[in-house]
Amino acid sequence: WFFVCLMVETLFFMQVVAENMLGDKKVTVVFVLGGPGSGKGTQCSNIVEHFGFTHLSAGDLLRAEIKSGSENGTMIENMIKEGKIVPSEVTIKLLQQAMIKNENDKFLIDGFPRNEENRAAFENVTKISPAFVLFFNCSEEEMERRLLGRNEGRVDDNIETIRKRFKVFVESSLPVIEYYDAKDKVKKIDAAKPIPEVFEDVKAIFAPYAKVIV
Ligand SMILES: *[C@@H]1O[C@H](CO)[C@@H](O)[C@H](O)[C@H]1NC(C)=O
Ligand SMILES: *[C@@H]1O[C@H](CO)[C@@H](O)[C@H](O)[C@H]1NC(C)=O
Ligand SMILES: *[C@@H]1O[C@H](CO)[C@@H](O)[C@H](O)[C@H]1NC(C)=O
Repeated sequence: WFFVCLMVETLFFMQVVAENMLGDKKVTVVFVLGGPGSGKGTQCSNIVEHFGFTHLSAGDLLRAEIKSGSENGTMIENMIKEGKIVPSEVTIKLLQQAMIKNENDKFLIDGFPRNEENRAAFENVTKISPAFVLFFNCSEEEMERRLLGRNEGRVDDNIETIRKRFKVFVESSLPVIEYYDAKDKVKKIDAAKPIPEVFEDVKAIFAPYAKVIV
């Protein structure tokens, strides 16, 4: 009996370990979700600096692919121009390649999964389940105030397009948050607070991942 139990346990352990493998690389992944203007970009920089994570922005990877002028890049560019959603496999492939190339094993994946289909495809393809999901919860009034005040020269930052982006975020991303919430994997942050206070909350969450300083 003892040996049977031991074997079952070993098999189970192997499965758990194998879950987050990329090729033969074991990784820790945190999904970062939040609406436009929720301040997640700023906090991602803080997490990178203080906790040694590598920041992977799905949007940046797609833009880099477009810039590279590859066949896929042209396809992505056209899809975005036509307002279509880039197929999950494309973004997943870029994320996977970035994680394999980078020697770090701790990644913040920012702005992905954007919807339930993204999430299911990511888990199907990579077999990676996130350690947790960091959700920057912010009221639309506050995000709108920030986006309008920021005015980074983005021509599309008028009220109407901002509200459209909120709507898309709520409709597509909330189901993802609910999915992980049911698995007790969502760490929710009150992102309407001032940046330094938000970072205090972030620090408490990432404390177990602190870089060991020798
Ligand atoms: C283009 O995208 C497809 C589907 O995501 C992928 O299989 C292929 O490897 C990509 N090509 C390049 C050159 O990255
Ligand atoms: C993921 O895998 C499950 C089970 O194999 C399948 O039912 C589902 O359609 C897949 N979803 C995606 C988005 O690939
Ligand atoms: C975000 O926070 C507000 C109030 O702080 C709360 O009512 C709302 O349910 C939260 N949203 C989510 C998706 O948890």
